[in-house]
Amino acid sequence: MKSFLKWAGNKHRILDKLKIYLPKADRLIEPFLGSATVFLNTNYPIYLLGDNNLDLIQLYKYLQKEGQLFIDYCRFFFNENFNTAEEFYRLRRLFNDCKEHRKRAALLLYLNKHCFNGLARFNRKGEFNTPFSYYKNPYFPEREMQYFHQHARKAEFIHGDFLTTLKNVKQGDVVYCDPPYVGLSKTSNFTHYTSEGFSHIQQMTLAKVARKIASKGIQVIISNHDTEFTRDIYKGATIVSFVVQRNISSKGTERKKAKELLAIFSYKKAH
Ligand SMILES: C[S@@+](CC[C@H](N)C(=O)[O-])C[C@H]1O[C@@H](n2cnc3c(N)ncnc32)[C@H](O)[C@@H]1O
Repeated sequence: MKSFLKWAGNKHRILDKLKIYLPKADRLIEPFLGSATVFLNTNYPIYLLGDNNLDLIQLYKYLQKEGQLFIDYCRFFFNENFNTAEEFYRLRRLFNDCKEHRKRAALLLYLNKHCFNGLARFNRKGEFNTPFSYYKNPYFPEREMQYFHQHARKAEFIHGDFLTTLKNVKQGDVVYCDPPYVGLSKTSNFTHYTSEGFSHIQQMTLAKVARKIASKGIQVIISNHDTEFTRDIYKGATIVSFVVQRNISSKGTERKKAKELLAIFSYKKAH
C-alpha cells in the first residue's frame, strides 16, 4: 500500500529488499517515520513510530483517532476553487500562521498534494516553503487514508527527536532507522526535511546508539546512501548495498541512480 503522502526519501522502491532483512519481532520501532511506507507494508503486532516533524505526527494522530471524520474534513480543501496559485499561497500562509493542530494537519495534506513535486520542504523557521504546481486533478487519497486508519490501531505515534524515540527500546523489539540521507556532494541540501536539517554529527550519534542497542541483542537496521562516510560510521555492521533509481535533484524531474545501503547491527555471540 502506498502512503497517502508524497515524501522525500520514501522507501517504496526498496521495500522488497528491506523486508528480507527485517526479522520477526514483537514490535517495530521507527524513529524517522516520514510517509510511513515501512509501517504500512509490514505486519508487526505493534509499532512505535516517531518523527521530529510535529505536523506530520499530528496528521497521523488525527487520522488514527477520528478516521472517516477527519478524512472528510481533509477533503474540504480538495476543491477546484482551491487549486490555483493564489489560493495555494493563501492556504500556505494560513498553515504557517495557524496555531490549531487539526487545521494544520489537514492543510499539510492539501499542501503535499498541490505543491511542486509533492515535496514537503520546510525552512529554518519551520515554515512550509515549497511552491505551487498545477495538477489538473489533485488526487485525494481516501482509500490510502482509510487503510492507514485501520493499520494505525496497532501503532503509537510520538513526536520527537530520534534519541527520544530510541529511549523506549526494549527486548523483543526490532528497530528500523531511515534518517535523512547524507549528501552525495557538498552542495546538495535536499536532505533538509525540517528546519533542523540533519548533521554528520547526528548520523554518527545514530550509528553509535544503534551499536549500543544491538549489543543488548536487539537488531537495528539503518538505511542511507552508500558512501565512504556511511561505510566508515557503520563499521562492524553487516552492509547490504544496492542501486536505486530516485528523483533526487532539486528540479525534481531529474532521475538519478544512487547507491544505497542497509547497515544491519546485530549482536553476535562469541563462541
Ligand atoms: C528519509 S525520511 C523517512 C522516510 C520514510 N522511511 C518513508 O518511507 O517515507 C527522514 C525523516 O526523518 C525525519 N527527521 C529529520 N530529523 C530528525 C530527527 N532529528 N529526529 C527524528 N526524525 C527526524 C524527517 O522529518 C523525515 O520525515
